Amino acid sequence: MQLVLNRPLDMHVHLRQEEMLQNVTPFTAQQFAGAVCMPNTLPPVDSVERYDAYVAKIKAAAAPYEFDPYVPLFFHEGLTREELAPARERLFGVKLYPAGVTTNSEAGVAEMSKIEPVLDVLQDLDLPLLVHGETNGYSHDREREFMSVYDHFARTFPKLRITMEHITTVEAAEFLEKHDNVFATATLHHLLYTMDDMLGGPFNPFLFCKPIIKSPKDREAIQSLVIQGHPKLMFGSDSAPHTEVMKRTEGAAGCFTSPVLLPGLAQFFEDHDILDQLQSFVSDRALEIYGVNPPERSVVLERKEWTVPPRYGSVVPVNAGETMRWAVVDPEVESA
Ligand code: NCD
Ligand code: ZN
Repeated sequence: MQLVLNRPLDMHVHLRQEEMLQNVTPFTAQQFAGAVCMPNTLPPVDSVERYDAYVAKIKAAAAPYEFDPYVPLFFHEGLTREELAPARERLFGVKLYPAGVTTNSEAGVAEMSKIEPVLDVLQDLDLPLLVHGETNGYSHDREREFMSVYDHFARTFPKLRITMEHITTVEAAEFLEKHDNVFATATLHHLLYTMDDMLGGPFNPFLFCKPIIKSPKDREAIQSLVIQGHPKLMFGSDSAPHTEVMKRTEGAAGCFTSPVLLPGLAQFFEDHDILDQLQSFVSDRALEIYGVNPPERSVVLERKEWTVPPRYGSVVPVNAGETMRWAVVDPEVESA
């Protein structure tokens, strides 16, 4: 049995730099015709010049796959109309990180009240705002506490398209109904796991990420958006690789899911008897919401078991050692 996905998209992934970029990008480029590649590199992708350089590096690392990287600029108060307007046609959007809430977010925004002039420019230029919506509060409540910020932004800038990245809570799921200009992405790991999978038994550092994996009730809220086929919810993996050493010794936050994404999603959709809705979740809605135009590529999945390797280079994937029911059929690998 095969499943064909047309122009699948991962609307939130971390591809990193240098060796890590070379190691992880093929998994994303193999399975997706395009992806939103996050700008929290070192230094961050915070100018049009750095944007052009990073897009070129990703494309080179993605070859021979035809793959469009959509890189949102790292939000900072110094972004100006003068810089953004001339590049508008090739830019994708801007990603806002509150300062210090996650990996490489130190250069993020410390005071939300100061950024309205930039938001005004984004609204004028119709550049979407992607947001890591967490406060610096108690881990489990950080996303809930951020809802008032989303609310303020959505009301003050009603024409600004705002994406709540990697939503994980009942409150975020409900918030999608509140404003026409607010959208969301959801990851595979927040759909599948709860806090107990990470630390109910022996601690599994490879499921430690921001926002933290939450309660069964929260997971159910996200699952139910996916199952009902919510038109404002897109797939965004938040695959965020760190070396095994960084995960084990520094407690780096981020789940590396890219090798198992389409197989894992097919499994979830099959289990819920909604395989026919996968196309919409992994592509159609993002095409509509963002108006992107990725390469015309189909990706084929086959119902065939395979075992996830213990590591890919220096990185341990989520589901290492587990058997997946669906496999990606890769013409590049078959012809090699
Ligand atoms: C991400 C990373 O490692 O860059 N980490 C994570 O836990 N998701 C950053 C992010 O998206 O929060
Ligand atoms: Zn992320």
